[in-house]
Amino acid sequence: MNQEAWKKVEDAVAASKTTTIKQLFAADPDRAAKYTLSAAGWTLDYSKNRVDADVMKALFGLAKAANLSEEIEKMFTGAKINRTENRAVLHTALRNCDPAAQVFVDGKDVMPDVRAVLAKMGAFADAVRSGAHRGFTGKRIKYVVNIGIGGSDLGPVMATLALAPYSKRSIRNYFVSNVDSTHLAETLREIKADQTLFIVASKTFTTQETMTNALSAREWLVKKLGDAAAVAKHFVALSTNEAEVVKFGIDPANMFAFWDWVGGRYSLPSAIGLSLMISIGPKNFGKMLKGYWKMDKHFRTARLEKNMPVVLALLGILYSNVYGAESYAVLPYDQYLSRFPAYLQQMDMESNGKAVTKDGQPVTYSTGPIEWGEPGTNGQHSFYQLIHQGTHLIPADFIGFCKTHNPIGDHHDKLMANLFAQTEALAFGKTAEQCRADGDPEELVPFKTFEGNRPTNTLLADDLTPETLGALVALYEHKIFTQGVIWNVYSFDQWGVQLGKVLAKNVLKDLVAEKADLKHDSSTNALIAHYRKVLGRA
Ligand code: F6P
Repeated sequence: MNQEAWKKVEDAVAASKTTTIKQLFAADPDRAAKYTLSAAGWTLDYSKNRVDADVMKALFGLAKAANLSEEIEKMFTGAKINRTENRAVLHTALRNCDPAAQVFVDGKDVMPDVRAVLAKMGAFADAVRSGAHRGFTGKRIKYVVNIGIGGSDLGPVMATLALAPYSKRSIRNYFVSNVDSTHLAETLREIKADQTLFIVASKTFTTQETMTNALSAREWLVKKLGDAAAVAKHFVALSTNEAEVVKFGIDPANMFAFWDWVGGRYSLPSAIGLSLMISIGPKNFGKMLKGYWKMDKHFRTARLEKNMPVVLALLGILYSNVYGAESYAVLPYDQYLSRFPAYLQQMDMESNGKAVTKDGQPVTYSTGPIEWGEPGTNGQHSFYQLIHQGTHLIPADFIGFCKTHNPIGDHHDKLMANLFAQTEALAFGKTAEQCRADGDPEELVPFKTFEGNRPTNTLLADDLTPETLGALVALYEHKIFTQGVIWNVYSFDQWGVQLGKVLAKNVLKDLVAEKADLKHDSSTNALIAHYRKVLGRA
């Protein structure tokens, strides 16, 4: 981080640190309006944060000192900003809805390929939905099973749940990710082979979990249908690796491509979204892309002070790096967004969970925060106690919609009342005097007092649609990008997950070897030996 700009942030915070959110509101009747932004169908109210004009100015200075605007431009124009993998970072090209747009990587315009794959996905999704594409025995497809993990699973799962109101209910979506055979077995119990489409989703097509599940699924299907030729009608692949797809036995005609400039955790708007597209249809998928695109354009063109992803990013940096917050909560007040926090976990923690700067030096400040959350109101009856009165500072993003897809009685008013009330309680708390005025006995006052001053952002949209979902995902993608730029880390590689993968292969050899010759540490050796003993292996 730029030291001079950082010092200004620290100075601005020091000057206002003792002022509470409550005092900030009391001092400025226009505060809510001043600290509210709109973009791509979303309104962000960030007034319930520990910031004043000076703190915000210093934070924007930090972004400017990191050359954020130039870095944004580099990403959008295909520069190889993922230097450790020597790749461009162009998930924004996937949802560039301008029919005349050109985006170049190594001198080649990638947009014609993007449009061609989208068209191929659309035609296939329509064929499955209409019954034109049928199974080996001539039956319609009723079950779609996406086999993938990480970015090849979490996005499609999250979005398929989120957009269930737009789904074709006669087609049921399943997602198998875990190499634990239980995940596949329990799914196979629910489906019929002759009506199932398996989508093998893997950028590399070498991921152990996915390949293991895909091979077992293929074996099951061939056994059930009694003919290996059935695979052609029941398996498609989403990948960047045609050679491995062919090796697996899937015809390249049944492969939907994407490219090395699409990071796994940013791949939902690529071919990886095929299961979602089958569920909601190409038209709605297109609307989702349009939502992404709107937020992309906002991020690229809005000045930093009015830029929603930038503001969210800077607030996150304020709490991580000045106030020492180690995590932040994302709390969607919508059951359809139940997997949104899990999806964001990979996006944020795999992107910015880095301890080395772009110059290869250890960072001297904390980077990627821990992201977690659950849908409201469930979380209120679980972990909110700690957010309200615990010793950890946990900034939280509250996400809600003014309208519901399921208007039943006054459920939605109650849901939203809870959202608004939580942010109010967190910011303003309850003083000892208020407790006494409410008649609380003196000995209970310390326990019933709420300090308040807990920061929150509130994100509101009119309703949860493909468009607002796309914009929401893009908002967090760009927030994370911005933080990576300011922390000066590479946000688009993930070397940290490699070691575990390599070691798991070594351990697997030792688990299944006829005779064990264990050369690990004493703990790992003992665990492997115990496992082998229970299974009766020598
Ligand atoms: O967990 C590491 C990772 O490489 C993720 O980045 C990725 O989303 C996931 O594995 C799955 O990879 P693939 O799509 O290549 O199977």
